[in-house]
Amino acid sequence: MQKIEAVIQPSKLDAVKDALVEIGVSGITILEARGHGRQKGHTEFYRGREYAVDLLPKVKIELVVGDDLLEKAIQAIIAAARTGRIGDGKIFVSKIDEAIRIRNDERGEIAL
Ligand SMILES: Nc1ncnc2c1ncn2[C@@H]1O[C@H](COP(=O)(O)OP(=O)(O)OP(=O)(O)O)[C@@H](O)[C@H]1O
Ligand SMILES: [Mg+2]
Repeated sequence: MQKIEAVIQPSKLDAVKDALVEIGVSGITILEARGHGRQKGHTEFYRGREYAVDLLPKVKIELVVGDDLLEKAIQAIIAAARTGRIGDGKIFVSKIDEAIRIRNDERGEIAL
């Protein structure tokens, strides 16, 4: 199992969520976030305005998928979130050791 954490532009959330449902991901968690990348926020625009603050609104998506779905999920996120401009976001991937469904003790990929 793999965890995908994707920081994206808030305006791309619906498109990314739909794309992930389309390829068959089960669960997903959305967090409202603020952050900056290598431009440190200063030169980035949000909704057509240059922001005076150095932390810009972002959305963080977290999902855990089976290994077989990892590359499809990454490609779905990229296709839905990319504009080609700075600040499009970033994807981080890490291994997950265990998943447990609290309701019935199911473990592993069956619990996703
Ligand atoms: N190394 C990192 N660690 C944690 N979060 C990061 C990291 N890099 C970027 N982020 C998060 O992703 C958001 C979007 O990053 P962003 O797309 O601006 O990355 P970038 O490296 O500056 O690339 P670009 O040049 O395309 O803008 C940031 O606002 C921040 O929340
Ligand atoms: Mg940036």
